[in-house]
Amino acid sequence: MVRETRISVDQLVYPMFVRDGQGIREEIGSMPGQFRISVDRLAEELQQVDDLGIPAVMLFGIPDEELKDPVGTPAYAEEGIICRALREAKQQVPDLLLVADVCLCEYTDHGHCGLISQTPGESPGVDNDSTLEVLARTALTYARAGADVIAPSDMMDGRVAAIRRSLDAAELYRIPILSYAAKYASAYYGPFREAAESAPQFGDRKSYQMDPANAREALKEVQLDLKEGADMVMVKPALPYLDVISRVREMTTVPVAAYQVSGEYSALCAAFDRGWLQRESTVRETLLAIRRAGADFILSYFAKDVAKMIREGNWE
Ligand code: PBG
Ligand code: ZN
Repeated sequence: MVRETRISVDQLVYPMFVRDGQGIREEIGSMPGQFRISVDRLAEELQQVDDLGIPAVMLFGIPDEELKDPVGTPAYAEEGIICRALREAKQQVPDLLLVADVCLCEYTDHGHCGLISQTPGESPGVDNDSTLEVLARTALTYARAGADVIAPSDMMDGRVAAIRRSLDAAELYRIPILSYAAKYASAYYGPFREAAESAPQFGDRKSYQMDPANAREALKEVQLDLKEGADMVMVKPALPYLDVISRVREMTTVPVAAYQVSGEYSALCAAFDRGWLQRESTVRETLLAIRRAGADFILSYFAKDVAKMIREGNWE
């Protein structure tokens, strides 16, 4: 009765990897228990998620390597991996909320989240403004293919406004934007980059993702995104940034999400494997901490496990 924080299944979003190909369900080496799945095998997986009572999935696309190009064309192709996945998902499991991650790093051959520009005499860098157009176009394609929520994760400045404009111009007023507002340049993304084959081929993401040393700057990022029309904001990663979640919670009334990222997941899995940490109670403690800090909902690779644990009474 006096417990302050609770976790329920309807506060969880399950991130999934969809890849080109046929009949594929391959376990990701760096993320035990997580899979890359081809579109033809997606429905069975989504049905499981739906049956567990998880309200939403976040979809990441992995196109065939040879489709990638410098400007991320396969991101917004009508027959691209995410569009096909969205259409299939909407048709097969209509009640599941589909959150589409919008970024270019899985689709560019250089692995950066935006387009590259090179000023003579300078090293190549990500070009913020020319990227916005591609992101807006990608978001629009996803919304038309059946995405219920658009989630830009690229961290370019001005992308929320650009995406909002393109959705509104197509009369998609009701599609909300969940902005990865405070996304840190984190070492915890390592396993994801292997999973999504999206590691940058040169340099790093520090020119667009945030410095782990900065918290006030996160508030500025959130403010800007809200002004541009973000409907929900996210802090990522989660556990190493509880202070940021808490401060973002204080400054806004919109829903706040937190992403328990691949490195948080895989590090815990490794410890569970060795018997160093106990699975149920540790997962529970991490999610409680994230909720206690102020997150309304949590993206987690543990989502299905948690739903099962709660169902089987292995939770309280
Ligand atoms: C890329 C993206 C990343 C994640 C989600 N979208 C990683 C990155 O910036 O390289 C990380 C998710 C995770 O680690 O689970 N835009
Ligand atoms: Zn990216």
